[in-house]
Amino acid sequence: MKAIVYLTKSKIRGGQSKKVGYTQEMFEEASKKLYLRKISAQKEFEKKQKILYSKSSRAAEIESELALTGVRAARAVAKGGNVKLELLHLREKNESLRKELSFIINKLGFPDGYFKIKYFCSLCKDDGFIDGKICRCMKELLRKECYRKLNETSVLSLSSFGAFSLDYYSEVPLKTGGSSPRKRMGLILDYCKNYAKDFSKDSPSLLFTGNTGLGKTHLSLAIAHEVINKGYGVLYNSVQSLVSKMEREKFKPNLDSSDLEKCFTDCDLLIIDDLGTEFSTAFSNSCIYNIINSRIIKAKPTIISTNFTMKELEKTYSQSMVSRVMGNNIRLEFLGSDVRQKLLKKKLGKITESIVNKK
Ligand SMILES: Nc1ncnc2c1ncn2[C@@H]1O[C@H](COP(=O)(O)OP(=O)(O)OP(=O)(O)O)[C@@H](O)[C@H]1O
Ligand SMILES: [Mg+2]
Ligand SMILES: [Zn+2]
Repeated sequence: MKAIVYLTKSKIRGGQSKKVGYTQEMFEEASKKLYLRKISAQKEFEKKQKILYSKSSRAAEIESELALTGVRAARAVAKGGNVKLELLHLREKNESLRKELSFIINKLGFPDGYFKIKYFCSLCKDDGFIDGKICRCMKELLRKECYRKLNETSVLSLSSFGAFSLDYYSEVPLKTGGSSPRKRMGLILDYCKNYAKDFSKDSPSLLFTGNTGLGKTHLSLAIAHEVINKGYGVLYNSVQSLVSKMEREKFKPNLDSSDLEKCFTDCDLLIIDDLGTEFSTAFSNSCIYNIINSRIIKAKPTIISTNFTMKELEKTYSQSMVSRVMGNNIRLEFLGSDVRQKLLKKKLGKITESIVNKK
Protein backbone atom coordinates (compact mmCIF):
# COMPACT_ATOMS: atom_id res chain seq x y z
CA MET A 1 0.00 0.00 0.00
CA LYS A 2 1.25 3.44 -0.84
CA ALA A 3 1.47 6.36 1.50
CA ILE A 4 -1.72 7.37 3.20
CA VAL A 5 -2.46 10.97 2.37
CA TYR A 6 -5.08 13.40 3.55
CA LEU A 7 -7.13 14.12 0.53
CA THR A 8 -9.80 16.25 1.90
CA LYS A 9 -11.46 17.74 4.88
CA SER A 10 -14.94 16.76 3.91
CA LYS A 11 -18.05 17.99 5.58
CA ILE A 12 -19.69 15.10 7.29
CA ARG A 13 -23.10 15.20 8.94
CA GLY A 14 -24.28 18.43 10.48
CA GLY A 15 -21.39 20.45 9.13
CA GLN A 16 -18.93 18.61 11.35
CA SER A 17 -15.53 18.73 9.75
CA LYS A 18 -13.73 15.40 9.73
CA LYS A 19 -10.46 14.36 8.17
CA VAL A 20 -10.70 11.47 5.77
CA GLY A 21 -7.55 9.67 4.78
CA TYR A 22 -7.12 7.43 1.76
CA THR A 23 -4.10 6.27 -0.13
CA GLN A 24 -3.25 7.89 -3.43
CA GLU A 25 -3.82 4.49 -5.02
CA MET A 26 -7.36 4.27 -3.63
CA PHE A 27 -8.09 7.76 -4.91
CA GLU A 28 -6.81 6.89 -8.38
CA GLU A 29 -8.91 3.72 -8.52
CA ALA A 30 -12.04 5.62 -7.48
CA SER A 31 -11.34 8.37 -10.05
CA LYS A 32 -10.90 5.74 -12.76
CA LYS A 33 -14.29 4.24 -11.93
CA LEU A 34 -15.91 7.70 -12.03
CA TYR A 35 -14.33 8.43 -15.39
CA LEU A 36 -15.67 5.16 -16.81
CA ARG A 37 -19.13 5.97 -15.48
CA LYS A 38 -19.05 9.38 -17.16
CA ILE A 39 -17.82 7.98 -20.47
CA SER A 40 -20.49 5.31 -20.43
CA ALA A 41 -23.22 7.88 -19.67
CA GLN A 42 -22.01 10.04 -22.56
CA LYS A 43 -21.85 7.10 -24.98
CA GLU A 44 -25.40 6.09 -24.06
CA PHE A 45 -26.50 9.66 -24.68
CA GLU A 46 -24.74 9.84 -28.06
CA LYS A 47 -26.47 6.63 -29.14
CA LYS A 48 -29.85 8.13 -28.28
CA GLN A 49 -28.96 11.35 -30.07
CA LYS A 50 -28.10 9.45 -33.24
CA ILE A 51 -31.49 7.75 -33.16
CA LEU A 52 -33.21 11.11 -32.70
CA TYR A 53 -31.30 12.78 -35.54
CA SER A 54 -32.00 9.86 -37.87
CA LYS A 55 -35.69 10.41 -37.26
CA SER A 56 -35.69 14.21 -37.38
CA SER A 57 -33.14 16.42 -39.13
CA ARG A 58 -34.82 19.49 -37.57
CA ALA A 59 -33.93 18.09 -34.09
CA ALA A 60 -30.27 18.01 -35.16
CA GLU A 61 -30.50 21.61 -36.37
CA ILE A 62 -32.03 22.76 -33.09
CA GLU A 63 -29.37 20.94 -31.01
CA SER A 64 -26.54 22.62 -32.94
CA GLU A 65 -28.29 26.02 -32.59
CA LEU A 66 -28.54 25.51 -28.84
CA ALA A 67 -24.89 24.46 -28.65
CA LEU A 68 -23.93 27.92 -29.99
CA THR A 69 -25.63 29.77 -27.12
CA GLY A 70 -22.41 30.33 -25.18
CA VAL A 71 -20.57 31.74 -28.20
CA ARG A 72 -23.47 34.06 -29.08
CA ALA A 73 -23.72 35.36 -25.51
CA ALA A 74 -19.96 36.05 -25.45
CA ARG A 75 -20.22 37.85 -28.80
CA ALA A 76 -23.09 40.03 -27.55
CA VAL A 77 -21.07 41.05 -24.49
CA ALA A 78 -17.95 41.79 -26.59
CA LYS A 79 -19.93 43.87 -29.08
CA GLY A 80 -21.28 46.13 -26.34
CA GLY A 81 -24.46 48.17 -26.83
CA ASN A 82 -27.62 47.00 -25.14
CA VAL A 83 -26.19 43.71 -23.83
CA LYS A 84 -29.11 43.07 -21.48
CA LEU A 85 -31.62 43.23 -24.31
CA GLU A 86 -29.43 41.06 -26.58
CA LEU A 87 -29.18 38.40 -23.87
CA LEU A 88 -32.92 38.52 -23.25
CA HIS A 89 -33.58 37.90 -26.96
CA LEU A 90 -31.12 35.03 -26.92
CA ARG A 91 -32.87 33.46 -23.91
CA GLU A 92 -36.29 33.82 -25.55
CA LYS A 93 -35.01 32.27 -28.75
CA ASN A 94 -33.54 29.34 -26.81
CA GLU A 95 -36.81 28.85 -24.93
CA SER A 96 -38.76 28.53 -28.15
CA LEU A 97 -36.13 26.19 -29.66
CA ARG A 98 -36.32 23.95 -26.57
CA LYS A 99 -40.12 23.89 -26.79
CA GLU A 100 -39.94 22.96 -30.46
CA LEU A 101 -37.44 20.19 -29.70
CA SER A 102 -39.54 18.81 -26.90
CA PHE A 103 -42.59 18.87 -29.24
CA ILE A 104 -40.64 16.90 -31.89
CA ILE A 105 -39.46 14.38 -29.27
CA ASN A 106 -42.97 13.85 -27.91
CA LYS A 107 -44.40 13.55 -31.41
CA LEU A 108 -41.87 10.79 -32.16
CA GLY A 109 -43.21 8.94 -29.12
CA PHE A 110 -40.19 9.29 -26.77
CA PRO A 111 -40.86 9.99 -23.09
CA ASP A 112 -39.91 13.30 -21.43
CA GLY A 113 -36.26 13.49 -20.39
CA TYR A 114 -35.28 10.56 -22.65
CA PHE A 115 -32.71 12.64 -24.53
CA LYS A 116 -30.84 13.80 -21.47
CA ILE A 117 -27.52 12.39 -20.22
CA LYS A 118 -28.29 9.86 -17.48
CA TYR A 119 -25.37 10.26 -15.10
CA PHE A 120 -24.73 7.60 -12.45
CA CYS A 121 -24.70 10.46 -9.95
CA SER A 122 -26.89 13.38 -10.93
CA LEU A 123 -25.48 15.49 -8.08
CA CYS A 124 -21.94 15.82 -9.45
CA LYS A 125 -22.54 14.57 -13.02
CA ASP A 126 -19.95 11.86 -12.30
CA ASP A 127 -17.18 14.38 -11.65
CA GLY A 128 -16.81 13.27 -8.02
CA PHE A 129 -16.77 16.84 -6.75
CA ILE A 130 -19.34 19.57 -6.26
CA ASP A 131 -17.95 23.09 -5.82
CA GLY A 132 -14.60 21.67 -4.84
CA LYS A 133 -16.14 19.39 -2.21
CA ILE A 134 -16.03 15.63 -2.51
CA CYS A 135 -19.40 14.21 -3.61
CA ARG A 136 -21.07 11.35 -1.77
CA CYS A 137 -20.68 9.03 -4.79
CA MET A 138 -16.90 9.57 -4.65
CA LYS A 139 -16.93 8.98 -0.89
CA GLU A 140 -18.74 5.71 -1.44
CA LEU A 141 -16.21 4.62 -4.08
CA LEU A 142 -13.29 5.54 -1.83
CA ARG A 143 -14.83 3.65 1.06
CA LYS A 144 -15.31 0.53 -1.09
CA GLU A 145 -11.77 0.83 -2.40
CA CYS A 146 -10.44 1.14 1.14
CA TYR A 147 -12.26 -2.04 2.21
CA ARG A 148 -11.18 -3.88 -0.92
CA LYS A 149 -7.56 -3.06 -0.14
CA LEU A 150 -7.73 -3.82 3.56
CA ASN A 151 -9.81 -6.97 3.42
CA GLU A 152 -8.42 -10.41 2.91
CA THR A 153 -10.94 -10.55 0.10
CA SER A 154 -9.60 -13.77 -1.38
CA VAL A 155 -11.23 -15.73 1.43
CA LEU A 156 -14.36 -13.64 1.78
CA SER A 157 -16.49 -15.47 -0.73
CA LEU A 158 -15.45 -18.97 0.30
CA SER A 159 -17.74 -19.61 3.22
CA SER A 160 -21.50 -19.31 3.41
CA PHE A 161 -24.22 -20.34 5.83
CA GLY A 162 -25.58 -22.68 3.19
CA ALA A 163 -22.30 -24.61 3.05
CA PHE A 164 -22.24 -25.04 6.82
CA SER A 165 -23.43 -28.52 7.72
CA LEU A 166 -24.36 -29.78 11.19
CA ASP A 167 -23.66 -33.37 10.09
CA TYR A 168 -20.03 -32.97 11.12
CA TYR A 169 -20.94 -32.60 14.78
CA SER A 170 -21.75 -35.51 17.07
CA GLU A 171 -25.23 -35.98 18.46
CA VAL A 172 -23.85 -37.64 21.58
CA PRO A 173 -23.95 -35.35 24.63
CA LEU A 174 -20.55 -34.52 26.13
CA LYS A 175 -19.32 -36.71 29.00
CA THR A 176 -18.96 -33.55 31.06
CA GLY A 177 -22.72 -33.06 30.72
CA GLY A 178 -24.72 -30.50 28.82
CA SER A 179 -25.88 -30.61 25.22
CA SER A 180 -24.42 -32.46 22.27
CA PRO A 181 -22.01 -30.68 19.91
CA ARG A 182 -24.66 -30.83 17.18
CA LYS A 183 -27.27 -29.16 19.35
CA ARG A 184 -24.81 -26.47 20.46
CA MET A 185 -23.59 -25.84 16.92
CA GLY A 186 -27.20 -25.69 15.67
CA LEU A 187 -27.86 -22.91 18.16
CA ILE A 188 -24.65 -21.12 17.18
CA LEU A 189 -25.51 -21.39 13.47
CA ASP A 190 -28.99 -19.92 14.09
CA TYR A 191 -27.53 -17.16 16.22
CA CYS A 192 -24.99 -16.24 13.52
CA LYS A 193 -27.62 -16.30 10.76
CA ASN A 194 -29.86 -13.96 12.77
CA TYR A 195 -26.89 -11.78 13.67
CA ALA A 196 -26.08 -11.29 9.99
CA LYS A 197 -29.74 -10.84 9.02
CA ASP A 198 -30.43 -8.21 11.69
CA PHE A 199 -27.00 -6.59 11.60
CA SER A 200 -26.89 -2.91 12.49
CA LYS A 201 -24.19 -0.55 13.69
CA ASP A 202 -25.41 -1.27 17.24
CA SER A 203 -25.08 -5.06 16.98
CA PRO A 204 -23.18 -6.69 19.85
CA SER A 205 -19.59 -7.88 19.65
CA LEU A 206 -18.97 -11.63 19.58
CA LEU A 207 -16.22 -13.94 20.74
CA PHE A 208 -15.94 -17.31 18.99
CA THR A 209 -13.95 -19.80 21.04
CA GLY A 210 -13.25 -23.50 20.56
CA ASN A 211 -10.71 -25.97 19.27
CA THR A 212 -9.21 -25.92 15.82
CA GLY A 213 -11.32 -26.80 12.76
CA LEU A 214 -14.76 -26.27 14.30
CA GLY A 215 -16.00 -23.64 11.88
CA LYS A 216 -15.16 -20.36 13.64
CA THR A 217 -13.57 -18.82 10.56
CA HIS A 218 -16.26 -20.32 8.34
CA LEU A 219 -19.09 -18.68 10.29
CA SER A 220 -17.32 -15.35 10.71
CA LEU A 221 -16.76 -15.21 6.93
CA ALA A 222 -20.39 -16.15 6.30
CA ILE A 223 -21.44 -13.24 8.53
CA ALA A 224 -18.97 -10.91 6.75
CA HIS A 225 -20.36 -11.93 3.37
CA GLU A 226 -23.97 -11.18 4.31
CA VAL A 227 -23.23 -7.97 6.15
CA ILE A 228 -21.17 -6.67 3.20
CA ASN A 229 -24.09 -7.46 0.91
CA LYS A 230 -26.28 -5.34 3.13
CA GLY A 231 -24.00 -2.42 2.30
CA TYR A 232 -22.02 -2.18 5.54
CA GLY A 233 -18.28 -1.57 5.73
CA VAL A 234 -16.76 -4.81 6.95
CA LEU A 235 -13.11 -5.59 7.47
CA TYR A 236 -12.02 -9.19 7.87
CA ASN A 237 -8.42 -9.92 8.81
CA SER A 238 -6.54 -12.61 10.62
CA VAL A 239 -4.86 -11.04 13.62
CA GLN A 240 -1.47 -11.62 12.00
CA SER A 241 -2.42 -9.78 8.85
CA LEU A 242 -3.92 -6.91 10.84
CA VAL A 243 -0.72 -6.52 12.87
CA SER A 244 1.47 -6.81 9.74
CA LYS A 245 -0.51 -4.09 7.99
CA MET A 246 -0.16 -1.80 10.99
CA GLU A 247 3.54 -2.62 11.24
CA ARG A 248 4.19 -1.89 7.57
CA GLU A 249 2.52 1.50 7.83
CA LYS A 250 4.41 2.30 11.02
CA PHE A 251 7.83 1.87 9.45
CA LYS A 252 7.13 3.82 6.31
CA PRO A 253 8.59 7.32 6.29
CA ASN A 254 6.37 10.41 6.35
CA LEU A 255 3.34 8.46 7.29
CA ASP A 256 0.61 8.73 9.81
CA SER A 257 -0.25 5.16 10.77
CA SER A 258 -3.23 6.44 12.76
CA ASP A 259 -5.05 6.70 9.42
CA LEU A 260 -4.93 2.96 8.88
CA GLU A 261 -5.85 2.38 12.50
CA LYS A 262 -8.84 4.64 11.87
CA CYS A 263 -10.07 2.30 9.12
CA PHE A 264 -9.90 -0.60 11.57
CA THR A 265 -11.53 1.31 14.41
CA ASP A 266 -14.20 3.02 12.31
CA CYS A 267 -15.55 0.27 10.05
CA ASP A 268 -19.07 -0.98 10.80
CA LEU A 269 -17.90 -4.51 11.58
CA LEU A 270 -14.36 -5.67 12.25
CA ILE A 271 -13.53 -9.37 12.27
CA ILE A 272 -10.29 -10.36 13.94
CA ASP A 273 -9.64 -14.00 13.22
CA ASP A 274 -7.31 -16.41 15.02
CA LEU A 275 -6.47 -14.22 18.00
CA GLY A 276 -3.45 -15.76 19.69
CA THR A 277 -1.75 -17.02 16.53
CA GLU A 278 0.18 -13.81 15.91
CA PHE A 279 3.87 -13.45 16.67
CA SER A 280 3.49 -11.75 20.03
CA THR A 281 5.47 -8.55 20.55
CA ALA A 282 4.94 -5.38 22.55
CA PHE A 283 3.85 -3.73 19.28
CA SER A 284 1.34 -6.45 18.35
CA ASN A 285 -0.16 -6.45 21.84
CA SER A 286 -0.60 -2.71 22.01
CA CYS A 287 -1.91 -2.55 18.45
CA ILE A 288 -4.58 -5.22 19.12
CA TYR A 289 -5.46 -3.65 22.44
CA ASN A 290 -5.82 -0.16 20.95
CA ILE A 291 -8.07 -1.30 18.13
CA ILE A 292 -10.30 -3.44 20.34
CA ASN A 293 -10.47 -0.79 23.05
CA SER A 294 -11.30 2.05 20.64
CA ARG A 295 -14.10 0.02 19.12
CA ILE A 296 -15.53 -0.74 22.56
CA ILE A 297 -15.46 2.99 23.40
CA LYS A 298 -17.18 3.80 20.10
CA ALA A 299 -19.69 0.94 20.68
CA LYS A 300 -18.80 -0.65 17.34
CA PRO A 301 -19.23 -4.41 16.86
CA THR A 302 -16.15 -6.65 16.61
CA ILE A 303 -16.08 -10.41 16.09
CA ILE A 304 -13.03 -12.10 17.54
CA SER A 305 -12.25 -15.76 17.06
CA THR A 306 -9.65 -17.76 18.92
CA ASN A 307 -8.81 -21.30 19.89
CA PHE A 308 -7.17 -20.06 23.04
CA THR A 309 -8.82 -20.92 26.33
CA MET A 310 -9.60 -18.08 28.71
CA LYS A 311 -6.50 -19.01 30.71
CA GLU A 312 -4.31 -18.86 27.62
CA LEU A 313 -5.76 -15.49 26.67
CA GLU A 314 -5.02 -14.16 30.14
CA LYS A 315 -1.45 -15.47 29.90
CA THR A 316 -0.84 -13.83 26.52
CA TYR A 317 -2.61 -10.49 26.83
CA SER A 318 -2.93 -7.89 29.52
CA GLN A 319 -5.63 -8.41 32.08
CA SER A 320 -7.31 -5.19 31.05
CA MET A 321 -7.63 -6.40 27.46
CA VAL A 322 -9.01 -9.82 28.40
CA SER A 323 -11.45 -8.35 30.88
CA ARG A 324 -12.63 -5.80 28.30
CA VAL A 325 -13.24 -8.52 25.70
CA MET A 326 -14.94 -10.80 28.22
CA GLY A 327 -17.13 -7.99 29.49
CA ASN A 328 -18.09 -6.72 26.07
CA ASN A 329 -18.31 -9.69 23.67
CA ILE A 330 -21.00 -12.34 23.69
CA ARG A 331 -19.13 -15.63 23.87
CA LEU A 332 -20.08 -18.52 21.60
CA GLU A 333 -18.23 -21.69 22.50
CA PHE A 334 -17.86 -24.01 19.51
CA LEU A 335 -17.99 -27.75 20.26
CA GLY A 336 -17.08 -30.91 18.37
CA SER A 337 -14.09 -32.51 16.74
CA ASP A 338 -11.99 -31.12 13.90
CA VAL A 339 -14.14 -30.72 10.77
CA ARG A 340 -10.99 -29.96 8.76
CA GLN A 341 -9.77 -33.51 9.40
CA LYS A 342 -13.15 -34.96 8.48
CA LEU A 343 -13.18 -33.04 5.21
CA LEU A 344 -9.65 -34.20 4.46
CA LYS A 345 -10.57 -37.84 5.10
CA LYS A 346 -13.58 -37.45 2.80
CA LYS A 347 -11.37 -35.99 0.07
CA LEU A 348 -8.74 -38.71 0.47
CA GLY A 349 -11.51 -41.32 0.40
CA LYS A 350 -12.76 -39.95 -2.94
CA ILE A 351 -9.25 -39.91 -4.42
CA THR A 352 -8.60 -43.51 -3.29
CA GLU A 353 -11.98 -44.59 -4.66
CA SER A 354 -11.26 -43.06 -8.08
CA ILE A 355 -7.81 -44.71 -8.19
CA VAL A 356 -9.31 -48.12 -7.24
CA ASN A 357 -12.09 -47.75 -9.84
CA LYS A 358 -9.60 -46.94 -12.56
CA LYS A 359 -7.70 -50.19 -12.00
N1 LIG B 1 -19.97 -27.22 9.80
C1 LIG B 1 -19.21 -27.15 8.72
N2 LIG B 1 -19.70 -27.45 7.52
C2 LIG B 1 -18.93 -27.41 6.40
N3 LIG B 1 -17.63 -27.07 6.41
C3 LIG B 1 -17.08 -26.73 7.58
C4 LIG B 1 -17.83 -26.75 8.78
N4 LIG B 1 -17.02 -26.36 9.78
C5 LIG B 1 -15.82 -26.13 9.24
N5 LIG B 1 -15.86 -26.36 7.92
C6 LIG B 1 -14.73 -26.24 6.98
O1 LIG B 1 -13.61 -26.82 7.64
C7 LIG B 1 -12.46 -26.03 7.46
C8 LIG B 1 -11.98 -25.54 8.82
O2 LIG B 1 -12.95 -24.69 9.40
P1 LIG B 1 -12.60 -23.27 10.03
O3 LIG B 1 -11.40 -22.73 9.36
O4 LIG B 1 -13.82 -22.45 10.01
O5 LIG B 1 -12.22 -23.71 11.51
P2 LIG B 1 -11.73 -22.82 12.71
O6 LIG B 1 -12.63 -23.11 13.85
O7 LIG B 1 -11.63 -21.41 12.28
O8 LIG B 1 -10.28 -23.41 13.00
P3 LIG B 1 -8.98 -22.70 13.58
O9 LIG B 1 -9.22 -22.53 15.05
O10 LIG B 1 -7.89 -23.65 13.28
O11 LIG B 1 -8.81 -21.41 12.89
C9 LIG B 1 -12.86 -24.92 6.53
O12 LIG B 1 -12.55 -25.33 5.21
C10 LIG B 1 -14.37 -24.81 6.70
O13 LIG B 1 -15.00 -24.32 5.54
MG1 LIG C 1 -9.98 -20.09 12.02
ZN1 LIG D 1 -21.56 12.40 -7.18
